[in-house]
Amino acid sequence: MAVFRMVDIIEKKRDGETLTKEEITFFINGYTEGSIPDYQASAFLMAVYFKGMTAEEQGHLTMAMVESGDQIDLSAIEGLKVDKHSTGGVGDTTTLILAPLVAACGVPVAKMSGRGLGHTGGTLDKLESIEGFHIELTEEQFVKQVNDLKLAVIGQSGNLTPADKKLYSLRDVTATVNSIPLIASSIMSKKIAAGADAIVLDVKTGDGAFMKTLEDAEALARSMVSIGHQVGRNTTAVISDMSQPLGFAIGNALEVKEAIDTLKGEGPEDLTELCFVLGSKMIVAGKKADSIEEARKMLEAVIADGTALELFGRLIEAQGGDARIIHDTSLLPTAKYQIEVPALSSGTISKMEADEIGVAAMLLGAGRATKEDEIDLAVGIMLKKKIGDEVKAGDPLAIIHSNNENVKKSIEMIQNHIHISDKVQDAPALIRETITQ
Ligand code: URA
Ligand code: CA
Repeated sequence: MAVFRMVDIIEKKRDGETLTKEEITFFINGYTEGSIPDYQASAFLMAVYFKGMTAEEQGHLTMAMVESGDQIDLSAIEGLKVDKHSTGGVGDTTTLILAPLVAACGVPVAKMSGRGLGHTGGTLDKLESIEGFHIELTEEQFVKQVNDLKLAVIGQSGNLTPADKKLYSLRDVTATVNSIPLIASSIMSKKIAAGADAIVLDVKTGDGAFMKTLEDAEALARSMVSIGHQVGRNTTAVISDMSQPLGFAIGNALEVKEAIDTLKGEGPEDLTELCFVLGSKMIVAGKKADSIEEARKMLEAVIADGTALELFGRLIEAQGGDARIIHDTSLLPTAKYQIEVPALSSGTISKMEADEIGVAAMLLGAGRATKEDEIDLAVGIMLKKKIGDEVKAGDPLAIIHSNNENVKKSIEMIQNHIHISDKVQDAPALIRETITQ
């Protein structure tokens, strides 16, 4: 391979020029193995932050990061493997619902999930609130279970995208996290290394999201869709609202219960609709339906006849958990105290600061402030109101589930961040846009 000098690559990007695949690969390989120091990588990231990257550069950056570590080979699993990624929100329980839902329609779901940091736990934490459920399977067991059941959910194994891990830590301390080319390549590298043939993205916008404005969410979605197509992965993005938490439950066991309700067809309207929108795109991407309309009918059918819920039970059983919870959610961990949060005035709910409500749940112990924190799977917040709902002073805005009687701070946070107005307010549109190539 040609030999480059990192200083020349930094200078080129600083001056707004376009880098070649070889230059980008030289940087990623050198930084991963340690021959390029943090100070040069920092300067490079800042140059990208200001000058951006073309679609082709983002494709090269993504694949260089994919190739920096292990890649999961899912070729032993029959059918097109469709993965879904959400850019993160508050109380987002979609993975728990979508996995059995689309698997029940015949799309193999070989899901690798992570733990949560911040707001609430990740999918793995939520699943571990089911007694006995374990997330460690060998690669052989994983492949066999997906071929048998169409469904397995495990923790991330192997050394996936080490370049992204190292760069993400550096971005965190150099004020370069918030760069669309860097976010897009970071997310896409992880999905591609995990073996997805097709990818459905849920890009959140609004108060509780990484991308606060619709414009930024669109730009991120376009970047990721373009990267996916460049590297041969059919990728679609939906931009969805995160100006208020999704559903009513925020907290691990509470969200498992909400997922079960939704699989029974008794879930919150917004969460159910988002699962239908994302799920129908996954089914079309997995070539199990020709149109979104047909896919949606399939999803409605597997909820109505109970097969999606039953498959969730078989997943739990296959991975050592107590499957009785699908019919008896009182077997999930429950908190000692349930405390009402009263509204301080009357009117219409006009705004819910999703991120702050997420922090209130974290303070109860539902999420981690640092990677080492233990979380309490039983605790969290059940919202009683959403934007557009009327409320009278003294009505409950939410119920706090806590193992500690003193929840004054969380009560105040919820009261301060759910805004009540005397003007009529419509509920925000859930789905803003769909972005395809
Ligand atoms: N999530 C990621 O995985 N990477 C980013 O860069 C930002 C959010
Ligand atoms: Ca929820």
